[in-house]
Amino acid sequence: MDQTLFGIENLDVYLVGGILMFFGLMEVIAGHLKSTKRTFSDWIQEVGSFLVLSVLIKPMIVLVIYFLGSFLLENYQYIFGHWHFILMLVTYLFIDDLLQYWYHRSAHEYEWLWKLHRPHHQAEEMGFFVSYRNAALYYILMPNIWWIGICTFLGFGKAVALGLILKQLVIIGSHSTLKWDRFFYKHKFLHPIIAILERIIITPAFHHGHHGVSKLDGIGNPNGNYGNMFSIWDQLFNSAIFTRQFPTALGLQNDPKEHWTAAYLYPFIKSDNQKSEISKNFVKETTATKEPIIVELKKGEKYLWCKCGKSQSQPFCDGAHHGTKFQPEVFEAKRDGKVKLCNCKVSKTGPFCDNSHEGL
Ligand code: FES
Repeated sequence: MDQTLFGIENLDVYLVGGILMFFGLMEVIAGHLKSTKRTFSDWIQEVGSFLVLSVLIKPMIVLVIYFLGSFLLENYQYIFGHWHFILMLVTYLFIDDLLQYWYHRSAHEYEWLWKLHRPHHQAEEMGFFVSYRNAALYYILMPNIWWIGICTFLGFGKAVALGLILKQLVIIGSHSTLKWDRFFYKHKFLHPIIAILERIIITPAFHHGHHGVSKLDGIGNPNGNYGNMFSIWDQLFNSAIFTRQFPTALGLQNDPKEHWTAAYLYPFIKSDNQKSEISKNFVKETTATKEPIIVELKKGEKYLWCKCGKSQSQPFCDGAHHGTKFQPEVFEAKRDGKVKLCNCKVSKTGPFCDNSHEGL
């Protein structure tokens, strides 16, 4: 069966390579390579992870599925190959993106998966290579890559090739420092176009928000904006925030900056920094207490109140909630002075203490 795209052998590989080169070149021309503060560790995690993913992990998984399928389910090979191309493309892309939405969201809500995804959020600068910055095991377990193999086996080969090109275009574009969507925000007459676009595909502003350190600046949404290609899942599952702005700071609230070997090869290699989440025997201790904490607040200032009960800076959030379903609550102080903030985390008037701890 002919699996080439538009009759050209490996056209998908050339086009994805072309997209990468285009964004890379544009970032260099825009001077982002000169001004970058990336360390050797950052480069090796981003470029190295991209190479291993492209040359080893992805082809291996697709080949394993393909050969296993041919061996065990021979009668099903190319069974849907007669479908209309558009139907194949839509089926591939929508299931792929839904799988990735939940995989990505789970990586923020479950600790063991968060440890594989957190290298992605340790990046303090965006750039197209950040798209590929994750632990190796994160990619090996990624359901989308397995889905590519399944679709190819079932006869969607050409649709997968085109789907990958479109997907890479959106994903690389949303990580790049080029921020193509700013052009649309600048000109009022283009606002209706971007209003429709951002409700369908992931824009740089939407995804940069996901990389924001916290919600304190009113733009960052590290516990939301999980989408990869389409923003429809975030809207459907209530995790979308559209601000059309870019966060003031990117990265993690607390980053012990592990050696790249531990970040990339966890759990096979662990960090020797005992403060690191990926060190041996690391446990997030509960720091919630029965008693409230009295703090001095400044009128007009915003604060992040910890709701997960694991912060080392109680009653405020220090980022320890990553890897759980909790997220902090932003509040603004209405006056100067001392207040009792809840630290039992059951107050019904959180962040303020309502004496609920007395019933515990
Ligand atoms: S540390 Fe952020 S909510 Fe607890």
